[in-house]
Amino acid sequence: MNHRTSRVAAAATAALLGLAVALGGSGSPAAAADPAALTGIILGVGANESQRIVTWYSSADTAQQVQLAPTASLTGGAFPASAATFAAIGGANIATSGGFNRHATLTGLQENTQYSYRVGTEGNWSPVYSFKTQDFEGDYDFLFYGDPQIGSSGDTARDAAGWRDTLDVSLAANPNAELLVSGGDQVETANTESQWDAFLSSDKLRQYPWAATIGNHDVGGKAYEQHLFTPNTDRSAPLYANGNPASNTSGGDYWYIYKDVLFIDLNSNSYATTQGGGGDAAHIAYVTDVINQHGAEAKWKVLVYHHAIYSPADHAKDGDNKTRRVDFPTAFSNLGVDLVLQGHDHSYSRSYEIKNGAKANPAEQPGAADVYPGPGGVLYVTANSASGSKYYDITTPDNSGTSGAGNGADPLNPNNYWYNSVQNQEHVRSYVKVEVRSGQLVVQNLRSGTCAAPNAAVELGKVSWCNNTPAAQPVGSVVDKVTIHPYHGDGQQLQVNVPTAAPGEFGWTIDGYNGLVSLGTAQEHDGEYFAATGKLNPIVVTDTRRTQAPWTVSASVSDFKDAGKTFSGSYLGWTPSILAPGAGAKAGSPVVSSYDDQGQGLSVSRQLGYAEQGHPKGTAQLGAGLDLKIPGSAEKGDYRATLTITALSS
Ligand SMILES: [Fe+2]
Repeated sequence: MNHRTSRVAAAATAALLGLAVALGGSGSPAAAADPAALTGIILGVGANESQRIVTWYSSADTAQQVQLAPTASLTGGAFPASAATFAAIGGANIATSGGFNRHATLTGLQENTQYSYRVGTEGNWSPVYSFKTQDFEGDYDFLFYGDPQIGSSGDTARDAAGWRDTLDVSLAANPNAELLVSGGDQVETANTESQWDAFLSSDKLRQYPWAATIGNHDVGGKAYEQHLFTPNTDRSAPLYANGNPASNTSGGDYWYIYKDVLFIDLNSNSYATTQGGGGDAAHIAYVTDVINQHGAEAKWKVLVYHHAIYSPADHAKDGDNKTRRVDFPTAFSNLGVDLVLQGHDHSYSRSYEIKNGAKANPAEQPGAADVYPGPGGVLYVTANSASGSKYYDITTPDNSGTSGAGNGADPLNPNNYWYNSVQNQEHVRSYVKVEVRSGQLVVQNLRSGTCAAPNAAVELGKVSWCNNTPAAQPVGSVVDKVTIHPYHGDGQQLQVNVPTAAPGEFGWTIDGYNGLVSLGTAQEHDGEYFAATGKLNPIVVTDTRRTQAPWTVSASVSDFKDAGKTFSGSYLGWTPSILAPGAGAKAGSPVVSSYDDQGQGLSVSRQLGYAEQGHPKGTAQLGAGLDLKIPGSAEKGDYRATLTITALSS
């Protein structure tokens, strides 16, 4: 960061500010030398939680910057001498946009801080806007918005009113949401700047970071790239639909990591090499590279792109979507993607857990409140319109099958497509809230409007009905809610070694669903150490062999890691117990944290349970209370470790 300006100078420029903007350089003496009008300011997501990107338009090609300071350090609205500045870069806009674009990346943000910022230059600053950072670790919420598509109803003002209202309603209900994620189609017509002005008219877009996604209505011009600069963006030819980044089109894929979630955002306009770009294969290569390089830095993988491949309405049977529906799912399953966020079909749907292009678990019930993706299960969500500018009605399944490109009916719910657990269309505005929690993702579709205005498509008679009943389904009510409990098969990797084949069987399994073993938040004790406790997922041992040979089940734990931070697995101890007796099972000895005895804790193999020669046949359930005790000097973080379980018998 650069530090510049005295307090007096900053106060003087702040006083001039409103004048310069209000008059647009029409003769204010201070602005006369530099009449750049600064418009379209938007706060964007950065490469991680300690960054933001600010993008704007300027009427003049001048050197500009973003000035930034903790809000608490401003005096009477004046920035302090210690305010940081970040130089902007950018270039000339295309002719139909006019003017120039600028962006700057704000880096080194501190957590739990309210910041104020403005863009421009001395003597010609924008108004002051504000955003806050929160804890850089742990749980958080983000919001996902489908197709604002301002201008789509034919009435830009009405579309913008609905869009602003959804932002207001959703952020009033979720003031601590940390990201606003786009489902694409910010505007109806790619290079129509009046639609961009309307899209950007809410100050919420200067207070919460927007994570842009390119839709089919954004792709046909450069305005999308001019308005919405994104981090880590690959703008190579294969990621443009026509293969030509220099043409009057937008494109590219990008990624960022925000507090344990790796987001990868794709330009799904490019799906077939016949268009001129790299098609879906280029996206799969990109996603594969990003996950291979950065997947271990986050605990969740969320993909975002515009064209829903599992959706319920007008676009469900489109040929291009069928192509993507064949191209993408197996790769996403293999790469361990948890959640895919989509738009384009202006209706809400939540898929079943999809594995390799088919329903992962045929028994998953429609509308299930909890889903348990085994390895390879991916949940796909399609967002309805956030603005009310356009809705598509749900369409009917056909006889094209229940996997791959098929649009057949769900055997459990024949009105729905086979891939959808939930489909909804009420012709009211909504948004999707995602709660990122330790060990689970909670996804909700929430109403941000009713049939009443602002609801442009209903107001203008673009749709003939509106089913919402405000008494039962008011603003803020829940259309759908699902909790994703990911599979942690690699959290308790198990190797059974049975060297002598014997009649009967010896083996063990994790009892029930192998969810994440959470130790919760460690409690600090007088600044000396942190302590946390939990319970092992119970392990069922079955021994029906005639030999009555002794067996033992042991485990050891890896180091605990959170991205680059780590502490030793030796700090974990346990107290084994027999939860259900049988098979002669006895509990192993307690092991204490190395914090207490300077030993090795569970970093070396320890017995969970065992049985001696001659034990009876049967089944036992083994458990253990887990005790973690780590030095107070450990770095803050959300750590994970892998417990490896080994069973041995002779
Ligand atoms: Fe759209």
